Amino acid sequence: MPKTTTARSRFAEDVAYYLSQTPRQLPSEHLYDELGSELFEAICRLPWYGITRAEQRLLERRAGDIVSRVAPLATIVELGPGSGLKLATLLAARPAGPVTVHLVDVSAAALDAAGRALASDPDLAIVPHEATYEAGLAEVAAGRRSSGKTLTLFLGSNIGNFDPPGAAAFLRNLRTAISEGDSLLLGADLVKPESELLLAYNDPLGVTAAFNKNLLVRANTELDADFDLAGFSHRAIWNDEASRIEMHLVSTRRQRVRVPAVDLNVTFEDGDTIWTESSYKYRTDQIVTMLSQAGFSSTSQWSDDGFALTLAAAR
Ligand code: AVI
Repeated sequence: MPKTTTARSRFAEDVAYYLSQTPRQLPSEHLYDELGSELFEAICRLPWYGITRAEQRLLERRAGDIVSRVAPLATIVELGPGSGLKLATLLAARPAGPVTVHLVDVSAAALDAAGRALASDPDLAIVPHEATYEAGLAEVAAGRRSSGKTLTLFLGSNIGNFDPPGAAAFLRNLRTAISEGDSLLLGADLVKPESELLLAYNDPLGVTAAFNKNLLVRANTELDADFDLAGFSHRAIWNDEASRIEMHLVSTRRQRVRVPAVDLNVTFEDGDTIWTESSYKYRTDQIVTMLSQAGFSSTSQWSDDGFALTLAAAR
């Protein structure tokens, strides 16, 4: 089955299931169709959304340190490589020599972009995996050679989009896919003042609102739904107890929405919401604990500008 059909049918199944739940929700993975991915790239360039720049600055400063701690480096795996810029920064600091680079992403376009960013380095053997993180990790593990160390990158605070049990399960699964002594570099956003977080997730240009509402555009285009975009507004709230930003789509009036492709009718009251994303924020010690519980020992942690990179070894 072509990948696009798979992504579409997963979206259809999730719309049918999650819009029938209380509270109504949609998993955040569906934010990233082609337009959604471009809107996310735009978010990363907004002055109010600091994650991407903070992480890039840390990588530029610490790349030498990082690669020296994972020597002899034979293999790098990046889960969700984005533009490939962060990986290129890290690779530029390594000693000369061949490295196999596995790129894992569900989006072929993302894999192409990252592959192009690395193409000029003749010492790299680039292996794209158009797959979920779990399936990609399994493919990498199946083809694993015994020589040299493997460094896996999970950057951009993507870990924050899992709820705590999901993050724990994800890290445990990652641990079983790599060998003792291999490393993980984890990028995670830190708790910061609420006003800063709210600006980052409710930016004055409305790009994050468009990113969120694009889920409804997707439902209209792919599933023939009749969401009226003017009848929903973007809301980002800080849930202090859970230490997360939540994104919601809020119905601004009583309305009925039809989604014929999955035979669903939903009635929204004024103020009803669809919960579309959680973005967990951590303290540095919580990151170390979370890694430890998954079978990793943190060897170094660098933080600046409200963001942390943690290097951990599989034990
Ligand atoms: C991809 N992920 C880490 C982003 C985040 O910050 O949770 C997605 C995002 N949502 C709204 N703005 C950016």
